[in-house]
Amino acid sequence: MTGLSGAGKSTLSIALQQQLSALKCRSSILDGDVLRTGLCRDLGFSKADRIENIRRVAEVAKLLNQAGVVVIAALIAPYEEQRALARHIIGIDNFVEAYISTSLEECERRDPKGLYVKARSGEIAEFTGVSSPYEVPLSPGVSLDTGVLGIDDCVQQLMAALHF
Ligand code: ADX
Repeated sequence: MTGLSGAGKSTLSIALQQQLSALKCRSSILDGDVLRTGLCRDLGFSKADRIENIRRVAEVAKLLNQAGVVVIAALIAPYEEQRALARHIIGIDNFVEAYISTSLEECERRDPKGLYVKARSGEIAEFTGVSSPYEVPLSPGVSLDTGVLGIDDCVQQLMAALHF
């Protein structure tokens, strides 16, 4: 799942995982916020670091895939180059790009972690959508605006995109 901070990626990941569990399908959530406290704690938010972030996550996802686990990766992944790299590492047949297209206005209105306020005041630099770019995916497998759709609708569309 790619999309702005506050778009709903983490919330949808948990809801999707619950749905997969109900079907006895093992899954694992790789969440950018969580990974940046461990595996990727040495990385910042420059373009090079964000690419390295996604590279590591994709390699972990590939290993989990090989163990038969569905991986739900929730990352901003703002650059097409990053997403193409992930697709390449994981393999086109095992990769679905879900664009969580919630608008910047809505994400900023939610501001669940207070980061947009800090980004606007300059306290946080290179913040996606404010002072760092977000390249909209050109042909995502599924596109979901959580400002318009409810969680259940989104999960249903994600399950369909995963061919469940
Ligand atoms: S990514 O761009 O490299 O894919 P990732 O998903 O791992 O980003 O991490 C994004 C999370 O880091 C955000 O949800 C937010 O909580 C936090 N964060 C801190 N600083 C920034 C920043 N400058 N830009 C975007 N997110 C940031």
